Amino acid sequence: MFDRPERGAAVVLVSLDFGLPDYAEGLNELNLLAGSAGLQVVGLVEGKRAKPDARLFAGSGKADEIGHVVRDAGATLVIFNHELSPVQERNLERLLQCRVLDRTALILDIFALRARSNEGKLQVELAQLRHYATRLVRGWSHLERQKGGIGMRGGPGESQLELDRRMLLSKIKTIEGRLEKLSRSRAVQRKSRQRGGVLSVSLVGYTNAGKSTLFNTLTHADAYAADQLFATLDTTSRKLWLPEAGQQIVLSDTVGFITRLPHTLVAAFEATLEETARADLLLHVVDSASPNREQQMEEVDKVLLEIGAEHVPQIRVMNKVDLTDAEPQVARDEYGKIAAVWLSAKTGTGVELLREALTEFARDQQHEIQLLATQNAELSQSYVETNQNGLE
Ligand code: GTP
Repeated sequence: MFDRPERGAAVVLVSLDFGLPDYAEGLNELNLLAGSAGLQVVGLVEGKRAKPDARLFAGSGKADEIGHVVRDAGATLVIFNHELSPVQERNLERLLQCRVLDRTALILDIFALRARSNEGKLQVELAQLRHYATRLVRGWSHLERQKGGIGMRGGPGESQLELDRRMLLSKIKTIEGRLEKLSRSRAVQRKSRQRGGVLSVSLVGYTNAGKSTLFNTLTHADAYAADQLFATLDTTSRKLWLPEAGQQIVLSDTVGFITRLPHTLVAAFEATLEETARADLLLHVVDSASPNREQQMEEVDKVLLEIGAEHVPQIRVMNKVDLTDAEPQVARDEYGKIAAVWLSAKTGTGVELLREALTEFARDQQHEIQLLATQNAELSQSYVETNQNGLE
């Protein structure tokens, strides 16, 4: 349904500095995102501005400069590292005579490439429909029409647009309905897990931290691990048996987090993220070899806050120790509970420590449940006694 930039398409990136502290990191990430989408970066235009221009976002001088770079490099696509309004996008496309995407559209495109489960695919499609609903008047085809003059000139007629819009809205409704059904069946599964006393553990972390690799190592499953952003999109769950605790856990791999994940996308993945918020334990996987690890941890915590998962117990998994000087080890918090484990998901060093940490967590939970059960029994006993006394 959606036109996607072709793999290998030559792209010019545009990044404007509005004086925000994470400018360099944002630009670096844009490069990685373009690579993840299979695009070939042939040019970069940077600039400084106090605030975006209402018509072209970049101001006319800068827009001309982008035009030169596009022509010189033979680019067919321009990607802004910002959110563009539909009007700005259209104006820029007219001026540059090539497709212009904003950051959200690029991320959506990558999501669309990566989604594997039925639910993930539906979630991406819904986010795309919502994103494009406001941009209906344009699309790749209007550029071709303008350039080649094939078929009609200009955009499609108003009545056609109205039809398209209605079709889009009804499609959005259908998908919302299907997603709701899926979410209900998930809630039923979750309840039966709770009744069976199964603990649910979710892997969370900044994209590329090594969640899928750890998931595989822990469950010996052959999930997908790639050195690309967002290799995992959907929750993949597998059972894991902890013999020493006599406990079954369900381990779930989740979507990778990213700096400035657009809000609309957080909303689109609500159902998947909801699973995270209801977990008994989060394993927050960190690329401990990354110079940006502190900031990445903060970003993950921000998303967790946003989805209401800030109170779920968390163990930090400081992954990729094979690339650092750190030894596999465990750190405890002031209550003596395990707060962090250093390991390498790839080589397997230190993974045993994590298994032990999971066993310890499972035992603590069992202990708490027993305690609660005893308290409940005592409470109901004293209730019975009080009532009996009252009857005498
Ligand atoms: P997203 O799906 O994008 O969120 O990524 P992810 O967190 O699931 O990361 P993934 O497991 O796909 O790993 C990303 C890259 O890091 C891959 O190239 C892995 O091989 C590599 N990697 C993961 N763990 C380790 C590790 O312990 N050491 C080293 N050297 N590389 C690792």
